[in-house]
Parts: sequence; structure tokens; C-alpha cells
Amino acid sequence: MNDQLIIFDTTLRDGEQSPGASMTRDEKLRIARQLERMKVDVIEAGFAAASNGDFESVKAVAEAIKDSTICSLARANENDIRRAGEAIRPASSGRIHTFIATSPIHMEKKLRMTPDQVVEHAVRAIRWASEYTDDIEFSAEDAGRSEIDFLCRIFEAVINAGARTINVPDTVGYNVPEQFAATIRTLIERVPNADKVVWSVHCHNDLGLAVANSLAAVQAGARQVECTVNGLGERAGNASLEEIVMAVRTRQDIFRCDTQIDTSQIVPASKLVSGITGFPVQPNKAIVGANAFAHESGIHQDGVLKHRETYEIMRAEDVGWVANKLVLGKHSGRNAFRSRLQELGVDIASEELLNHAFARFKELADKKHEIFDEDLQALMNDESSEPKEHFRLLSSSFHSETGEAPCARLTLLVGGAEASSESSGSGPVDAAFKAIEAVARSGTQLLLYSVNAITTGTDAQGEVTVRLSRDGRIVNGQGADTDIIVASAKAYLNALNKIQGGSEKMNPQI
Ligand code: KIV
Ligand code: ZN
Repeated sequence: MNDQLIIFDTTLRDGEQSPGASMTRDEKLRIARQLERMKVDVIEAGFAAASNGDFESVKAVAEAIKDSTICSLARANENDIRRAGEAIRPASSGRIHTFIATSPIHMEKKLRMTPDQVVEHAVRAIRWASEYTDDIEFSAEDAGRSEIDFLCRIFEAVINAGARTINVPDTVGYNVPEQFAATIRTLIERVPNADKVVWSVHCHNDLGLAVANSLAAVQAGARQVECTVNGLGERAGNASLEEIVMAVRTRQDIFRCDTQIDTSQIVPASKLVSGITGFPVQPNKAIVGANAFAHESGIHQDGVLKHRETYEIMRAEDVGWVANKLVLGKHSGRNAFRSRLQELGVDIASEELLNHAFARFKELADKKHEIFDEDLQALMNDESSEPKEHFRLLSSSFHSETGEAPCARLTLLVGGAEASSESSGSGPVDAAFKAIEAVARSGTQLLLYSVNAITTGTDAQGEVTVRLSRDGRIVNGQGADTDIIVASAKAYLNALNKIQGGSEKMNPQI
């Protein structure tokens, strides 16, 4: 049996289907670069037919990434497959992932097709896809609730037509480990030419079993797992990449395979995805939660000090945790700044960007004497967030006094022209948002406002996430500053810039 477990990351596609997690093209590129650095085998960059924006994102990722296979999702119809094929064309290694539902309920109620028609569509889709690439994956959507005889029939047909990876999704997170493993084992035993393809699984977390089901499937012979950073994804999410990778790596005595993931890139990937989507990671989340390696009880601390392995099965540094350490200060030069960014894996696209970021670093170092890695990351997030800004904060002043309504006075750049605005509010953040809205009149609804201190200490930068919605579209904006009201205004403007530039897109599973 092959001992390589292929890691197929779908953060940019299924992950993005979480309400509120939509990402811009540049954000997707930044995540794709981090996935490449982590040595993910396959990056599902999006669903090219969903919108022009999605097509452009998949294409941009295909152009930029060299070491991972770039994949686009496509329903089993000609238009979707051709859009996917065009979008992955620039990739050094490109895959088309086509799917159709196979469960009785989906075939009858959603597709309104007979099983024969479904098989016919699937086979035709593989033929269209083969005009673009040999690397074709087929998924039987809702396989977790499909009849095993029908799965065997459709998988046999698509393998004969040229599919190389057969994916078995538990689309609605209905399965339990033993049963799911039995399904995989039966398929591998019964489907002709099963040994000519890679068997893959894609589990959703509705019952909290996505990782357990995926690992059970690996024990049954699956050699590709579809997963997302931080377990992001539709509804309760997908199987979490970090948990799959570390379970397999830590329990080599159980799993007769391993991944090629560079595990030291896991925590940076988690922080990047959380920062971009505005979805915080719960503190007790395995591997990437802030408390995942913290020992609180005296007995545990004593044990770990005497011998680390008394209470630790993994090393924090192996998954990319580094202690908050002082890295730079106001006297640090441009070269030290550049080389620390490179060590953090941050892309510096141009000298112009570096100069601009360095000037902002100096401003920050004047306000905050100790600059940590987290500060640099936040600064670079800000730097590369939205190049085509319609709204920008030029200056601000806030007034708040006991017994009086707080007031915000802002000067903004709106489409290149200066505009001033003033408003009061129930608090200074509310006043700032109202002052922005007095100019922007965006018609958006505020869904979420959250503040997080990037490092410790009262001089820490506040990182603010603002989630806005308009006409069913949801975007996240981020802003960081030592002044949390300024950070809030920046986050609000960042979200408005995204909502301005976005286009409608469809969900593949509707
Ligand atoms: O959950 C699912 O079934 C999917 C497929 C498109 C693979 O995301
Ligand atoms: Zn899915």
C-alpha cells in the first residue's frame, strides 16, 4: 500500500463557503503561498464558474504557485468544466475536480435526475475535463448517504472514463468512523481498477466527527484527505488540516502512511487564515489553539519541567509555535526589517512596498517600543490588504468625556478626493462608524465587530475585525493600530473597500 497521504487543502474553496469567510483575490494568493510553503500537495483554489472574481482568483493562484497542484471545482456540466479548465491552464500542475450528487435524496429532490442520467453526466464531465488535464478528480456528492451499489457503479464508470482520484464526501457530516471506514474498504474491494486510482475522503463536521471519519478512512486505505486550515468550511466546517497531519505524524504506529507537510508552517497558516477571515481560533482548539500547549495545573507543570513527554505528545515548536519574542525596535534598520519578514515567510512584492512598510514600521516603533513578530505580521496584513482602496483614513480625532456623547471627526480619501465627516455615537467606535457612513452611505449591515490584542501589554496593537453584509454578500475587514478606535475605523473602511469591489457568486452545492 502507498505510504504517502496526499493533503488536499480546500480552505480557498469549501473554507470560503463559510458565511462571512469570503476572500479577495489577493487574500487567496497570500493563503495559497502559505499553503505552498507548508508543502500542501493539492490546493483547491476555488470554483472557477462561480463568478468572474472566482475565475480570476483560481487563475492567479495557478500562475503564482509552482510546487503544489492547483485545482478548480466544477459541477458536472460543460460550462463549469471549461471555466475550470481555462482557470487552471497556467498551473505547472493543474487538476479539475468535478462532482455530481449520488444520494437518492439529492438525485430525486435536487437534481431531478434518474441514476442513469447521473452516471451519464458524470462520464461526460470526465471526458470534457480530459481535454484540459489528465489529473481529474471525481466526487460523488453526499456519498455518505448514497447506496453502496450505486457508488460502485458510478465510480467504475468514471474510472473507465479517465478519473484518477475518487473522492468520497460525507457532505452532510452524517457518518460515524467505523461505518465510514467500512464504506471505503468495500469500495476499494468492489470497484474494478480500484488500485489504479487514489481514494480520497472529504468529511464535514456536523457531528464533530470530520477528523475521526477521515482518519478511519485512512486506516481503511484512503490516501488523500480533503481538509481546511482551522477546520473552516460549510456549516460546522471540514476536517481540520492540522489535526489530520499531526495525528498521522504523531501516531506512526497506527497509520501506515505520512504526509510531506512542513509542520512548522501550521501555526503561521492558522494565524493567516484566522486573520484574513476574521474567524477566531478557539483557545482549546487542538494544535493551533492558544492553550494547546499550555500547562496550567501544578502537577502537569512539574511533570513537564522534569521530563517534557510526561504530558506532551507533540512539541509546540514542531507545529510552528514560537515564544513572543522581541524582534525589532526603533533603531532597527531596513535590512533587519526585510530579513525578519523573509524569515516569517512574508512576501515582499516590491521595493516600493518594502519602503512603505518600513516607514509604517518606524511610526509603529515610535509608539510601541517593542515590536514582536505578531506586530510585523499585522502590519504586513494591512500593507497588502486592498491595493485599490476606494476609501482611506487620512486623519482622525475622537472626543469622549463623562456625561457627554462621544464624538468622532474623520478626514477620509474617497475615490481620490478628500472628505470630512463628524458624528456622535453611543461610544467612540460607534461615532467613528457613523462618521464613515455619513460619507459612504454604503447600505451595509454590521454583522460582527471584534477586537483582539495582538501581543501583551497596554501598548499592544489592537486588531479589529468588522463583518459587513449587503444584498446577501458578506465581507470581513481588518485593521490594526495601537489606538483601537483608529484600528476600528481602518477595519470598517477595509470592509467597505471589499464590498465595493466584489461580485456576486454562486455556491456550487445549490
Ligand atoms: O461537501 C462536499 O460534498 C463537497 C464536494 C463538492 C466535494 O464539498
Ligand atoms: Zn464540502
